[in-house]
Amino acid sequence: EKQGFKHFMLKEIYEQPGVVRACLEAYFDGEWAATDANKSPIHLGLAPELLADLQHIQIVACGTSWHAGLVGKYLLEQLAGVPTTVHYASEFRYAPAPITPNTLTIGVTQSGETADTLAALEMEKKRRSSFTQPELQSRLLGITNRPESSLGDLVPNIIDTHAGIEIGVAATKTFVAQVMAFYGLALDLTDRRQAKSPEQLEEILVGLRQLPAQMEVVLESQERYIEELAHDFAETQDFIFLGRGINFPIALEGALKLKEISYIHAEGYPAGEMKHGPIALLDAKVPVVAIAMPGAVYEKVLSNAQEARARDARLIGVTPMDEQEAADTFDTLIPVPHVDELLSPILTVIPLQLLAYHIAARRGLDVDQPRNLAKSVTVE
Ligand code: F6R
Repeated sequence: EKQGFKHFMLKEIYEQPGVVRACLEAYFDGEWAATDANKSPIHLGLAPELLADLQHIQIVACGTSWHAGLVGKYLLEQLAGVPTTVHYASEFRYAPAPITPNTLTIGVTQSGETADTLAALEMEKKRRSSFTQPELQSRLLGITNRPESSLGDLVPNIIDTHAGIEIGVAATKTFVAQVMAFYGLALDLTDRRQAKSPEQLEEILVGLRQLPAQMEVVLESQERYIEELAHDFAETQDFIFLGRGINFPIALEGALKLKEISYIHAEGYPAGEMKHGPIALLDAKVPVVAIAMPGAVYEKVLSNAQEARARDARLIGVTPMDEQEAADTFDTLIPVPHVDELLSPILTVIPLQLLAYHIAARRGLDVDQPRNLAKSVTVE
């Protein structure tokens, strides 16, 4: 069943290019035709009124799905221009934001069974029943890998993430699939609201379609290297992950993966926050992994990384193959293909998954079933 892989987690990491291909096929068909404004290549199968006149989106989720929600927020705000908030479901259910008619609530849960996420959505459904128009009552959307789950019964609209069953407790392929669902949703909303031209949308779609092959490049060129690199961290007790913009949630995800399977303490921070306290943690014993992809925050991340270097921290950069400036900044490079920052999370997350995997495997830990964790958390 593991098809030659030592653990399901590694097998599932390798399945990710195929999962992204499946999502591309399911969500997109054809291209944006500049000549025909009514023709959209996006097919999410959502009720047409669901996305009309939106003023706000609120996302509820837990764990890795919450990180996918943060990437989603970036896309929904920066592409579609819809103000978006992301909530831990366990917090939201006891302190919900005031309800407004033109809010879309999105629950993200790969299993469709997470108790807190379901409870937050149930509460939201109840609250929305006070609206008289049926289309306002049903402004709920689920993003899930299991449409046949409790979530599927609860919410009227679902985006299926097509990742196939995930056995490893640490979510990997279901995360990239959730992020793909957010690309689909954000591009759909961007198109409906005409927030970008068809040419701009088409360019993003072309970039998305190149991702699976680029993911394969990362796996083929980096896995062995990261396996070697993992040896260096046999005694390491703390890790810091840094990112900014759309890669800030990836830093959080890298830290969570490492914590849950290797039991090493790890923190993810937006790189610009380091100087407001966390930088005091750094010394030669605390490696810093920074995600630095060319774009709006590239120079900023590099200069934040330099600050960490001044504290003797070992600097590991997830950064494009051909960037001299990054090569000069980091002690250790994990190169990924040079892609638009907007599309980069799908690539930058892979080295972090591999790093967590190989550190844990090297320590001889039960990667697929880490201590104290269950694949789906069906209790509060
Ligand atoms: C992390 C992980 C958990 C889940 C969280 C939510 O690798 O697996 O953090 O992401 O328990 O699970 P779902 O998505 O099923 O709601």
